[in-house]
Amino acid sequence: MENKPFNDTFLKACRKEAVPYIPVWYMRQAGRYQKEYRDIRKKYSFFEINENPEVCAKVTRLPVEQLGVDAAILFADIMTPIKASGIEVEIVEGKGPVIANPIRSMTDLSRFGDLHPERDLPYIAETIRLLREQLSVPLIGFAGAPFTLASYLIEGGPSKDYHKTKGFMYAQPDVWQALMDKLADIMITYLRSQIEAGAQAVQVFDSWVGAVGADDYEQYIAPTMEKIFSEIKKTGVPSIYFGSGTAHLLKIWNQLPADVLSVDWRISIDEVRALGVDKALQGNLDPSMLLAPWEMLFTRVKAILDQGKKQPGYIFNLGHGIFPEVDGNVLKKLTEWVHDYTKSN
Ligand code: CP3
Repeated sequence: MENKPFNDTFLKACRKEAVPYIPVWYMRQAGRYQKEYRDIRKKYSFFEINENPEVCAKVTRLPVEQLGVDAAILFADIMTPIKASGIEVEIVEGKGPVIANPIRSMTDLSRFGDLHPERDLPYIAETIRLLREQLSVPLIGFAGAPFTLASYLIEGGPSKDYHKTKGFMYAQPDVWQALMDKLADIMITYLRSQIEAGAQAVQVFDSWVGAVGADDYEQYIAPTMEKIFSEIKKTGVPSIYFGSGTAHLLKIWNQLPADVLSVDWRISIDEVRALGVDKALQGNLDPSMLLAPWEMLFTRVKAILDQGKKQPGYIFNLGHGIFPEVDGNVLKKLTEWVHDYTKSN
């Protein structure tokens, strides 16, 4: 479809190599802020898009074509492999994933089957193969991290405080560990299958793990993340670890075998590096700034870039996802501005 030379700037930044300009992509770059996406959603449910490779590839490509970003991210949800492993999940508009029968005991764990990607979600590999023929930027595969997945499975849906999730972790540590192991196995299998099909980097979304203190993270979560990232490392494909509100966890994250850490606006890039973090970094514009006047937005972005580009291994992104009220024209202008500014400075 596109016949441009392959743009590997994003992959170079993941590997901390020299780049001609700072690469850009946006979390949730495919979604309801786009008219084209809203039109497609009128015809198909979320999972119908996900399970139809032609449509799914088109939705994945849209932001690359519209915004000029340096990477595509597979269109799917963190709950896609959970649904394919036999747990009933619904995506409720304006709310997120909802589980009618939450996981609360060891017996509930038997509701998970093993994940056989070619049998249970063949459409994912098929979408990836299509995209590799069509794209001239790298394709990022992804999965949810066990804590964040467990939060939906245990709470039954989105939560503000994760009391049930953390209560489960403290009160039933054996079941918690069994759940972490099960989810890690499924996600490793899932990520490996994406990489085999052609994903050129993977991001692990641990959106809500910032709710956990550092000591608890180390005890209840870090061993699972160590296992996931060391398995990905064996494939040679770069991995990104994302969370929000995770400033207190970054020193621990720096010890994990992930290649890139994605940080949010609650900590600056300079402050992250001052902690001794020596991995490549991704982030960290507050997505709310996309509603600010242009002068304010680009002043803020310039400050982020001036910090980011001090060292090789920096990718410009938001600190969390785009939301429906964002204007795509602002994102397009911002992408061009970041490219131009970092080419000449
Ligand atoms: O463009 C991309 O980033 C790729 C697609 C993508 C989606 N979800 C599509 C989606 C990715 C990477 C995700 C990951 C995801 N899903 C995360 C981690 C990233 C983050 O934002 O923290 C989380 C926590 C989820 C769970 C989830 N799924 C939420 C919170 C929502 C939004 C609820 C809402 O309506 O605001 C979903 C649904 C969802 N996933 C939508 C999209 C485009 C919107 C719903 C729709 O189209 O009906």
